[in-house]
Amino acid sequence: MATKGKTIVLGITGSISAYKAADLAARFTKDGFRVDAVFTESAMKFASPMTLRNLTGRPVVTTMWELSTEFSVEHVALSEAADVVLVAPASANIIARLANGIADDMLTCTVLATKAPVIIAPAMNDNMWANQVTQDNVAKLKKRGFIFVGPAYGRLASGKMGLGRLTELDEIYGVTLQVLGKKGDLAGKNIVVTAGGTQEPVDPVRCLTNRSSGKMGYAIAEAARNRGAAVTLVSGPTSVTKPAGVKVVDVKTAEEMLKAVLDATKKADALIMAAAVADFRPARASGSKIKRRELGDLTLKLEKTPDILEQARGNFIRVGFAAESDNVIANAVDKVKRKGLDLIVANNITEKGSGFGTDTNRVTIIDSKGKAEELPIMSKYEVADKLLDRISSLLKKK
Ligand code: CTP
Repeated sequence: MATKGKTIVLGITGSISAYKAADLAARFTKDGFRVDAVFTESAMKFASPMTLRNLTGRPVVTTMWELSTEFSVEHVALSEAADVVLVAPASANIIARLANGIADDMLTCTVLATKAPVIIAPAMNDNMWANQVTQDNVAKLKKRGFIFVGPAYGRLASGKMGLGRLTELDEIYGVTLQVLGKKGDLAGKNIVVTAGGTQEPVDPVRCLTNRSSGKMGYAIAEAARNRGAAVTLVSGPTSVTKPAGVKVVDVKTAEEMLKAVLDATKKADALIMAAAVADFRPARASGSKIKRRELGDLTLKLEKTPDILEQARGNFIRVGFAAESDNVIANAVDKVKRKGLDLIVANNITEKGSGFGTDTNRVTIIDSKGKAEELPIMSKYEVADKLLDRISSLLKKK
């Protein structure tokens, strides 16, 4: 992740959800960003600058008029240091002030002076959000290039349900990384990634599937997004959180995945087939539930599913995965050649910390000529970045 040296100015405003900004700040700091938190006057009624000070390891700005902080003398210093300004949570009040160019505290001065992208995550009462004056302010800011994330529908501070809740932190986090990566090495590229296992129906209740968690494919989709790519993620059923800023196409069967991949690759620069596609499916799925008491033993006749990677061809980089239990490298070299791939990622699924369901993977990346690059065990996100380094250099040569 290209986080080293990047600065996020985190504006915190008066909302009951201000405490959630601490979580965001902790996450960004852990990932190597420099987080400079700026509190408005009313934010301090809801969250503690001391918490942010400790979580970010940085001075926190609470006023423009305090001489002892690093930013106080030059009231636009933060606006110049920012790679992105994120206002989370953003109250109706701050949205109104920003829309009207008011600059009467450090946060409004910073936003008015910055050339960095500004992301706004609103949080307020649903009637305040729905009010035409707020909507006009939002439209005005959007027209000026401000990026809005949320609000979400859910339980509000008042106790009732409505649209106005600070959206999921995962989403705010994802959009921020996407915005920061806009000019990355994959900017302007369309990347299609498949993830998860497919489910092949036996009857309306049962299906044939496999142990794939989808984590590897989701990590690739996120990493590609963070490097500027427009990503389509064709996903089998998984419990992994959907990444923000990625177009997700949900599928169940190999047949549905084939259709979605053929459609998405019409304009693709690369296809990465990380999905564990079922190789066989019941030749005939029963339309009604198969009853145990009406049968002795049950024999299922299976037929082959379509080979998606084989069929998805065109002027784009094609990358396969080979999850093997024996003769890993030899099988993968055979596959890369047989399927005419640009790269294949081989792993031994029986190894500890590798393969299905884990957060780490130990893989070997093999090119079209059979040349292998063996990587040490690392997180799936790091594997994704290594793979994207290879794809990025292949795209440059195209
Ligand atoms: N794949 C595919 N369509 C299928 C099966 C697999 O597109 N019906 C893709 C997988 O997503 C993976 C690659 O092909 O990227 C290799 O999958 P794998 O199951 O290991 O290969 P197979 O060709 O099925 O070979 P084998 O079962 O003999 O190992």
